[in-house]
Amino acid sequence: MQKKYLIGNWKMYKTTQEAIGFMGALLPELKAIDAGSLALYIAPSFVHLSAIADLIGDHQSIQLIAQNCHHEAEGAFTGEVSAAMLAAIGVKGVLIGHSERRSYQKEDHPLLAQKIKRVLEAGMQPFLCCGESLAARKHGKHKTIVQQQLQESLMGLTPKEIETVAIAYEPVWAIGTGQVASLTVITEMHAFIREVLSELCAGEKVPILYGGSCNPQNAKAILGCPNVAGGLIGGASLRVDAFMQIVAALLEQKDGTGYSCN
Ligand code: 13P
Repeated sequence: MQKKYLIGNWKMYKTTQEAIGFMGALLPELKAIDAGSLALYIAPSFVHLSAIADLIGDHQSIQLIAQNCHHEAEGAFTGEVSAAMLAAIGVKGVLIGHSERRSYQKEDHPLLAQKIKRVLEAGMQPFLCCGESLAARKHGKHKTIVQQQLQESLMGLTPKEIETVAIAYEPVWAIGTGQVASLTVITEMHAFIREVLSELCAGEKVPILYGGSCNPQNAKAILGCPNVAGGLIGGASLRVDAFMQIVAALLEQKDGTGYSCN
């Protein structure tokens, strides 16, 4: 059975003190449960990574992901952070192409493809985000957009390399809006992403996570949908109690098929 993933994307929230406080409360809760079947991650701001890595220590019940990295291996790029720098402090993965970065930093597919390469070279797992805007969905272009995002961002990778990537489907209209995608949409889009990955010769191994207004109330149903290997959580990951409720929902999943989604 494939591991179920849960990633808390803290975006630009929490001071270091608040981040340390959160982890101080979370780690004992994780110690108290058997989370061995789960792949749990926190994606804090760069500035908190070292402090949180120290707190996690050998515990390993939860790991660190960065929210971004630079597309070059190193160089004169003031203010940037390389994949190798992240790997050196114990970071295990990097979010690539979050819709907020595609939109505000104008990140395009060729740039994202370069970032994925840097992450793989540094021995970490890329978590490639994809998802359509509301306008694209209204015009019936959601599948075309997601297909293009995947094909162009994964371009140049071998099928073996693609199998080490994880995908996060995050419809833009569901992020931070409280407008979670219906189980029908989630099921349809995850099946479609699986098809696109198969065309790229990457089999069933690539985990496909869902993100967008996932919370303790809806997590169990979402995480039980076919082809949903876990959740990428924004707002609800900022509170320990909400994060732990989603962990509990994940632990309730007995297999990869779960609920019938309609
Ligand atoms: P919300 O869970 O706040 O909708 O954010 C989702 C997200 O963007 C995670 O990367």
